[in-house]
Formats: sequence, structure tokens, C-alpha cells
Amino acid sequence: MNTLAPGSMEQADWQTASVEDLVAYIVKRFHERHREELPELIRLARKVEHVHASNQACPAGLADVLEGLQQALESHMLKEEQVLFPMLLKGMGALARGPVAVMRFEHDEQDQALAQIHQITNELTLPDGACGTWQLLYEGLKSFTEDLSEHIHLENDVLFLKGSNAAKGVENARV
Ligand SMILES: [Fe+2]
Ligand SMILES: [Fe+2]
Repeated sequence: MNTLAPGSMEQADWQTASVEDLVAYIVKRFHERHREELPELIRLARKVEHVHASNQACPAGLADVLEGLQQALESHMLKEEQVLFPMLLKGMGALARGPVAVMRFEHDEQDQALAQIHQITNELTLPDGACGTWQLLYEGLKSFTEDLSEHIHLENDVLFLKGSNAAKGVENARV
């Protein structure tokens, strides 16, 4: 199975995948890509906001929202990589309940930032005659926002459930 091919993984594939494969996929496909993409998206947003401040469609406040999301994601993804994922990989699902609850709460905050991005950009709608930078920004944002939604979904609805089921298996095995 080529677990790193973007966009090729149906949810059903992950239901039967190991926690190891899923964690490796999430870090490579989402964490690394968010880290790569966000600085450029922030730079493009600052530029568009500066150059097109008088345009009615100008996404005012977008760069600040992206910067806040970048800071939140950096700390969130580090907690996953250094604390939660190692616990899930060791089958410590019962002990991971606290960290999982924190991550779910932070995912809700990330969802709110995504909603703000869609609102500020009028659902990523470009005005007539938008310049190349503006087009590049919305194309990049489309890809980033879709990725982040999929990332949150894979963790909330597949990885965290799989991790806690693995823990139940361990507990049952001990009885
Ligand atoms: Fe993550
Ligand atoms: Fe997460």
C-alpha cells in the first residue's frame, strides 16, 4: 500500500490500517505540508491585503487569522508528535484519553479558524480581474483548508477511535 500518495486514500482503507501506518501518513501528508505551506500563504495574504486594501473583496484580516492558526497548529502538532502519537503507538489508549480530549478541543478551534477564512474570503471567491498573487493565494488556501479538514477528520474519527479500541483490546487481553 502506498500510504503517502496524496488524495488516494479512502477512509475505508484507514479503518483497517495499523496505527503505525496512519500516524506516519498523518505526519507526512498533513503536518509536514501545513508547516511548508503556511508561511507562503501568510506572505501572499499580507501582500494582497496591502496592495488591494481599497478593493471591496479584499480579504481584510486574513493574514492575522492565518498567523494565529499557524501558531496554534505548530504547538498542536508538536503535542501530537511528541506526546499523543507515541502513547497511541504503544497501545496506551486509556492513558491517552486526556490528551485526546485536549486535541479534540483544539480541532474545534481549528474548525472555527477555517470558518473565519471562508467568511473573510467570501468562500474563496476571486473578484473579476484578480491579480496573479490573489489567484495563487486562493488556490493555495483551497488546498490547505481541504487538507486541514481531512486531517482533523482522520484524527477525530479514525485515529483516536482506533487508538482507544486498541487499548480496550489490551485491557481485555489482561482479564
Ligand atoms: Fe495532526
Ligand atoms: Fe490534530
